[in-house]
Amino acid sequence: MTENVQEPLQDMMRQPAERLYEHELEALRQHDKGRIPAGWQMSPQAVLTFITGGKAGKTEITPKYIGNRRLIEMAIATLVTDRALMLIGEPGTAKSWLSENLSAAIYGHSGLVVQGTAGTSEEHVRYSWNYAMLLANGPTPEALVQSPIMRAMEKGGIARFEEISRCASEVQDALISILSEKTISVPELGKEMNARKGFSIIATANTRDRGVNEMSAALKRRFNIIVLPAPSTLETEMEIVKKRVGEIASAYDLQAAAPADEALHKVVTIFRELRSGMTIDKKDKVKSPTGVISTAEAISLLTNSMALAASFGSGELTDEDLAAGLQGAIVKDDEKDQLVWKEYLDQVMKKRGAEWRGLYKACKEING
Ligand SMILES: Nc1ncnc2c1ncn2[C@@H]1O[C@H](COP(=O)(O)OP(=O)(O)O)[C@@H](O)[C@H]1O
Ligand SMILES: [Mg+2]
Repeated sequence: MTENVQEPLQDMMRQPAERLYEHELEALRQHDKGRIPAGWQMSPQAVLTFITGGKAGKTEITPKYIGNRRLIEMAIATLVTDRALMLIGEPGTAKSWLSENLSAAIYGHSGLVVQGTAGTSEEHVRYSWNYAMLLANGPTPEALVQSPIMRAMEKGGIARFEEISRCASEVQDALISILSEKTISVPELGKEMNARKGFSIIATANTRDRGVNEMSAALKRRFNIIVLPAPSTLETEMEIVKKRVGEIASAYDLQAAAPADEALHKVVTIFRELRSGMTIDKKDKVKSPTGVISTAEAISLLTNSMALAASFGSGELTDEDLAAGLQGAIVKDDEKDQLVWKEYLDQVMKKRGAEWRGLYKACKEING
């Protein structure tokens, strides 16, 4: 199935982490001196290097997650035991990104994913049937359609469960029995599927989703929960944004100059101030918009602005390109946001002196 497709992937819109960082993973496996847990592709120490960066022989390993190393150690240690891992936090705190990269390093594949929505059913978590085959031949192993979780059990791999808190409670309950018994029974075939060593689940959940607090205590008990925080300092957040914008721009082959540190500094400053409700120097209060203005949005704002500059501008990011991006990121179909943004422009940005003047004017023009 999809996880084994070996076609050239250069033409794919998005490469999974195991392809994107193939040579890093290969180097880590080659130079791994640690003990490798059953079903894993590399030792926990090598997984840690893959995620936080370092060296494998002569190969440079780029950091994937920038932030508290201890959290990553805890996440990896969880997966060494037979407990499942749940990453929770605000949107855009790299929950999905970390889950993908952990799966790529530990299991070699990140594509066994269940996307949680209100419409996710028990069948998405356990198995379903190919109905044409079921009608023709009755229940046979060939007619069985395994869920990504069932496939991970069979292979001793990692399944990812995205936005788990959006699922109905029956679906969450189905997961409880899988996690506690490590089997899925298929009564129609008189069979049981037992998980091989290495099987685990990495779930993610947004704390902004209403559903989160409704996750049952029984479900939460099956997981070690790790909270991913928003970046703690301006410098860290700038580093994250700079790195990811560079990677994404090169993946899309955008013919635009990378944002200057000055533009980066401005965008991240604005985001942090609106998010925290306070200016960086802590002197003034600022109102926060209704939507989430996460690191991930700063990244997409800058890549979008680069696309604008590359396609319709000079290739250099201008204040007008940035202003258009900021307006879109901050004002989310809500009149209140427009006022919040206006107030920020007049109370904070306008008073910031010459190097902010151009951006201020461009923002004012768009926000009206
Ligand atoms: N601490 C961080 N380290 C590295 N990248 C980060 C960090 N925080 C956010 N990002 C980047 O922001 C994006 C986060 O998106 P995503 O993982 O989809 O967020 P979430 O699932 O938490 O909503 C990714 O592109 C990721 O690289
Ligand atoms: Mg996510």
